[in-house]
Amino acid sequence: MQIHPTIAGLRAALDAERARGARIAFVPTMGNLHEGHASLMTQGRDMADVVVASVFVNRLQFGPNEDFDRYPRTLDADCARMRDAGVAHVFAPDESELYPQAQTLRVVPDPALSDILEGAFRPGFFTGVATVVCKLFNIVQPHIALFGKKDYQQLMVIRQLVQQLALPIAIVGGETLRAGDGLALSSRNGYLSPDERARAVLLFQVLSAAREAVRAGDRDYPRIEADALSRLRDSGWSPQYIAVRRQADLQSPAAHESRLVILAAALLGTTRLIDNLEV
Ligand code: PAJ
Repeated sequence: MQIHPTIAGLRAALDAERARGARIAFVPTMGNLHEGHASLMTQGRDMADVVVASVFVNRLQFGPNEDFDRYPRTLDADCARMRDAGVAHVFAPDESELYPQAQTLRVVPDPALSDILEGAFRPGFFTGVATVVCKLFNIVQPHIALFGKKDYQQLMVIRQLVQQLALPIAIVGGETLRAGDGLALSSRNGYLSPDERARAVLLFQVLSAAREAVRAGDRDYPRIEADALSRLRDSGWSPQYIAVRRQADLQSPAAHESRLVILAAALLGTTRLIDNLEV
């Protein structure tokens, strides 16, 4: 496994891979890797000849009061995990390499998709994501790129980016990996105290109950959402949203529609957790 701190070094290595006809799969990350990230990398290995992963904590997608400074940076452990997952090339640039000048040019996704749900609580988040992912795509020029359904709205923003800018990259969505109790794996789980970690599964349980209600034919989505919100509040959480939406565009469904997804964001103490379940 090669680790490339510079764009030029990575490009030279990937030009050589492409020259020998290798198909390239790409997994962008912010590091502090867990099994969820690794599953995207092993899927990439099954779908392509060479897996490239990036590790970069992208300041552009953090709000002023968010956790950019304390976001865990664990490159040595991440490299061990990426080696085990079969990654051939790691792109791990400094900020000065990826953003040598202030990144004033931004890629702004369609507000209809990016100003709702996560975007409503994290203004500018998806612009930061789309900008860095577009830049990484131009650097890596992969055939395939893999993103987790854990960040459902992010995956949709990336699909729209690729579609509307005609980027020649196939986007693959990977299933959410969960801990034994059901909590979705996340780098931010590390912020939870032992007591919070024991209680954190409630988010998955509340989503599961909402999914069961929808599966059983309940179409009163506002009541399902309100029940889920009050269950979280009653247990000391500060939920931000629970929303039953269409998979196609994350808008509110009409009563007869199927292919839904239930999305949630909630604070447990100071830790913000998100999760979702497709119905
Ligand atoms: P990060 O949070 O590090 O996540 C990297 C990728 O791993 C994302 O596609 C995310 O959806 C996926 N992932 C996270 N937890 C997962 C889980 N439990 N199961 C499966 N996949 C999971 O998402 C980002 O970084 C950034 O926004 C990025 C796209 C790298 C742009 O900076």
